[in-house]
This record gives sequence, structure tokens and C-alpha cells, in this order.
Amino acid sequence: MSPGTVAIVGAGPGDAGLITVRALERLRAADVVLYDRLVDPRLLDEAPAHAERIFVGKRVGDHVLQPRINELLVLHARRGRRVVRLKGGDPFVFGRGSEEADVLAAAGIPFEIVPGVTSAVAVPAYAGIPATHRGVASSFAVVTAHEDPDKGGSTVDWSAVATAVDTLVILMGASRLAGIVDRLVVAGRRPDTPIALIRWGTTDEQVVVTATLADIVDRAAAAALRPPVVAVVGDVVRLRERLRWFGEDGHDRDAPVGTADDAEPVEQLSRPRGAARRPQTAATPSLV
Ligand SMILES: C[S@@+](CC[C@H](N)C(=O)[O-])C[C@H]1O[C@@H](n2cnc3c(N)ncnc32)[C@H](O)[C@@H]1O
Repeated sequence: MSPGTVAIVGAGPGDAGLITVRALERLRAADVVLYDRLVDPRLLDEAPAHAERIFVGKRVGDHVLQPRINELLVLHARRGRRVVRLKGGDPFVFGRGSEEADVLAAAGIPFEIVPGVTSAVAVPAYAGIPATHRGVASSFAVVTAHEDPDKGGSTVDWSAVATAVDTLVILMGASRLAGIVDRLVVAGRRPDTPIALIRWGTTDEQVVVTATLADIVDRAAAAALRPPVVAVVGDVVRLRERLRWFGEDGHDRDAPVGTADDAEPVEQLSRPRGAARRPQTAATPSLV
């Protein structure tokens, strides 16, 4: 990575061990790191001591706007720095990495993309749920419930998507669950279709709620499940009963069954820990 360039780097889904070798190389050579909310803070320790670390994630009351992020990328690169733009998961999966690359291309700044392990596949995998499985599911789609997290709303054609594939993976859907479930059922997904919600997947705070489309909204409310959550819809969810592997030491809790009134917020159920494995900035309520 030469000076005056930007690497748009995927940090992986949460577990710091899921970062790629290339991503680590870029981080270790960085002069400036601009990082998001879902990035494990321990990864920042990989950058050299002199490297400037700039949080540009989205939190309530602390919202760095995308145009400002674009400006910072261009500014630091023009100062001849090795800039790493570190993003959760894969930068080209609902990560706005391509928008940032567009800005850099227009500004004539050399850049590279370092793909990451996306939460869309890795988070279900840590819950023992494959995207496909011979005889159960031979297609999957990844959709977002927020087309633009800044504006809200969705341009996803839910009626088309609902039955087009065997497995549906939905990102950023925690706050819109009821509406999504309604649309899926109206569009032809059976109410008894299994669904899993996985919060903070791949980290030691992973919590999983499994139910059917008919009862997931109540179960999610009872568990007070807040973002970040990956939802998986389809028969592959049943495989969790056999393939559940993560959490021998108490992680990967199934959320408790209860009512919204008697349930303890998930965060209070988390086991005490020393160094948090999940990104620490997430303690602040999120917008997404
Ligand atoms: C803005 S999108 C970014 C996705 C990212 N580029 C990727 O490839 O994973 C953020 C959403 O990803 C999902 N997500 C990312 N990491 C997660 C994790 N560790 N556990 C659960 N959901 C996660 C959630 O749906 C969250 O709202």
C-alpha cells in the first residue's frame, strides 16, 4: 500500500479472528484508520502506534454523515497518508463501500477493496444455520430492511423476494420485524416457516431467538432484541438443532421465553466479561 492511497477493508462480522490476512496487512501499514460501529476495537490495536484512529460510525447523538466521511478519505489520502477505511463485515454488502470507492475514483485517488467475511453468512453459521443445505435449501438471498439507513424505508420488493429463494437473510431488520413478517406471509411464505434472529453473532454476546413467522414478533419482543440482528428465514433454521456448535462455554444463548413484561433486556442477561469481544461503541443505542 503506497502513501496517498485508500484501502476499503472488511473487518469481518464481529469475531476479530475472522479478519483476513490482507486486511491485517493493510491495518498494520496504516497511517489513518476510519472505522465503523460494528468493528471490534481490538482490531484497531493492530494499526501502528502513530496511526490516527477516527470513529465515523453512527450512534445516537453522534452521527458522522457520509459526505463528511468521503471528505476525510480524500483529505487524508491527499496528505499522502495510507488510509484504511475499516468496515464491519464486507464493505460491498450494505456497507456503502462502493459509494466511497466512487468518490475516490472521481477524485483520482488510488484505492483498493479488501473484501471481508460478511455477517450475512457468518452470523447464521455461528448459530449453526447454513445458507444452503442439500435437500433443504439450494438458493438464498440477502436483503436489507433499510435501503438507506439515513432515510429509512425500503425499496425491496418483498412480495417478489418472499418465495423466490429457499433461504432469506435479512440485515438491518430488527426494528421492522413485524412489517417484514407480515409482508412475507401475505406474499406466500407459510406462517410455520422457521425463522432465527441472531444478535451480535460471532461474538461472546451472541443471542439467538428461533420461532416461526407466526410467533417470532412476540418472541423477539419478549427477548427485547435490539440491533445488530441478522434474520434468517427458511427450513435451514431447523438445522440449528443439530449443527449448533458455538458457545460451549456459555455463549450463543437462546433468548429466554417470556412476555415482553417479564423479560429481562438481553444485555442484562449477558455474562460478565473482561475484555469485550464485541465492538465497544455498540453500547450506545444504535440507529440501525
Ligand atoms: C450496515 S449493515 C453492514 C453489513 C456488513 N457490511 C456485512 O457485510 O456484514 C449492518 C447490519 O449487518 C448486520 N450485522 C453485522 N454484524 C452483525 C453481527 N455481529 N451480529 C448480527 N448482525 C450483524 C445487522 O443486520 C446490522 O444491522
